[in-house]
Amino acid sequence: MATMQMSVRPEDLLQVPKGKERIPDAGILVIFGASGDLTKRKLLPALFHLEQAGLLPDTFSIVGVARRPLGDEFAADMRAGIVEFGGAEASDPKLDKFVKQISYFALNFDDPADYAGLKAELDRIDKEKGIGGNRMFYLATAPEFFAGIVENLGAQGLAQPEHGVAAVVIEKPFGHDLDSARELNHQVNAVFHESQVFRIDHYLGKETVQNLLVFRFANGIFEPIWNRNYIDHVQITAAETLGVEGRGPFYEKAGALRDVVQNHMMELLSLVALEPPSSFEAESVRREKLKVWRAIPSIPILNAVRGQYGPGLVDGQRVVGYRDEERVNPESGTETYAAVRLEIENWRWAGVPFFLRAGKRLKKRATEISIQFKQPPLLIFDRIAAKSACSVIQPNLLTIRIQPDEGISLRFGAKVPTTPEMAVCPVNMDFDYEAAFGKSSANGYERLLLDAMLGDQTLFSHRDGVETNWALYTPILEAWAAKNPEVFPNYFAGSWGPECSDHLLEKTGHAWRNDLGRKA
Ligand code: BG6
Repeated sequence: MATMQMSVRPEDLLQVPKGKERIPDAGILVIFGASGDLTKRKLLPALFHLEQAGLLPDTFSIVGVARRPLGDEFAADMRAGIVEFGGAEASDPKLDKFVKQISYFALNFDDPADYAGLKAELDRIDKEKGIGGNRMFYLATAPEFFAGIVENLGAQGLAQPEHGVAAVVIEKPFGHDLDSARELNHQVNAVFHESQVFRIDHYLGKETVQNLLVFRFANGIFEPIWNRNYIDHVQITAAETLGVEGRGPFYEKAGALRDVVQNHMMELLSLVALEPPSSFEAESVRREKLKVWRAIPSIPILNAVRGQYGPGLVDGQRVVGYRDEERVNPESGTETYAAVRLEIENWRWAGVPFFLRAGKRLKKRATEISIQFKQPPLLIFDRIAAKSACSVIQPNLLTIRIQPDEGISLRFGAKVPTTPEMAVCPVNMDFDYEAAFGKSSANGYERLLLDAMLGDQTLFSHRDGVETNWALYTPILEAWAAKNPEVFPNYFAGSWGPECSDHLLEKTGHAWRNDLGRKA
């Protein structure tokens, strides 16, 4: 069947019916760590998409803050980033107008005197433009600076202004274990009220991730079968073909479990597993997510495996092993792959295993959730199918492709035509985002930035959630830190990860799905 193709620009996707726009009040966005990649590749392109969609206030200012002494070249560099990474036309007059709102302020993150200068600069901009005191501080620095920046903002009275509202957005990683996350929460909440704090997880900005809630709760047919009576197990995979891309020093301290599993993957898991929230409001959604995380019993160390890539071939290119990456310890024990098996102890999920895996330099880039349903109680066609071209009858499988090839497919068995026997073959019903809605160049930060400016915390992590997830993973991290892996590297770049990960599933009679991606 031909699918109708619509062409949608990011500004169209963000567009809301006239009169229902959610446009933030005038304000200044202050980005700390603005000379880093995130600002140029993601934040500024996303802000420009918001501008194109008419969702930024008329009176708005962006102040980049970092240590380097930059001047006007900062705005010029951001302009180039918006063109390169945001798909903007270099000659777009809207772009010139937008870039005029960008300025730069050089500051040493740990020098209190510099914050007095920053305050004076923000007051000056505020007065010149008549902004009214609203400020949002976006912390995109290395995590070791978060606490100091927050403290200095507090000392200057920037967190609790006399006029307007202040908010702080904090990038991941939020702490590196339970104690450090608790301490950081304590430091942040000593200065900002929890309602002013936006802990960002960029996965929640992805359309396909938000669609999980729509899929489950805007459709009546899935909810009745979304439980242990019908679901055999759930797999969540975040596979990357990239290596550490020059982020060696960061990654050496992080590793796959901290970098991706403890946050992004646990967010995905919570959206698959949560009970229907009573509304799509921050408190309801966050409460239900927290209930899921709290229902996960501690993960036995035997149910967690780690791996590190050696050299290999990725997409036909020869690549070095992790230990040979730039600025990585040649004897590093850091994991570039992690997988866990966990359970959720509540009535909906008791006995259903959830398998999570994330890794770098794997065979294919694919972030997917697959929900495997139980086999029918009696397989009346089983023997006939075994003799046919399609070996065995496969259970129904619902696959949610978060990226790339965003979409959802449902596998079911169909009769192979023209065969005299009842030969059954698996086929897919497929929903493809791009075919249905057109290609979008939005990067996910649009929604998160807009929500933060509007004070909507629904898609941001609460302190309790962050701490609950650290509590779950800290014992594994500690056990791994106490004992260096004997067999690293244990998988080839370009493979599906270490063998021990397959054994993790074999114990319960399962196997990883490695035919990921629609075009697999
Ligand atoms: C980041 C991690 O949070 O997420 C990276 O630090 C990882 O290591 C990235 O590559 C994956 O995000 P995405 O959106 O590219 O899937």
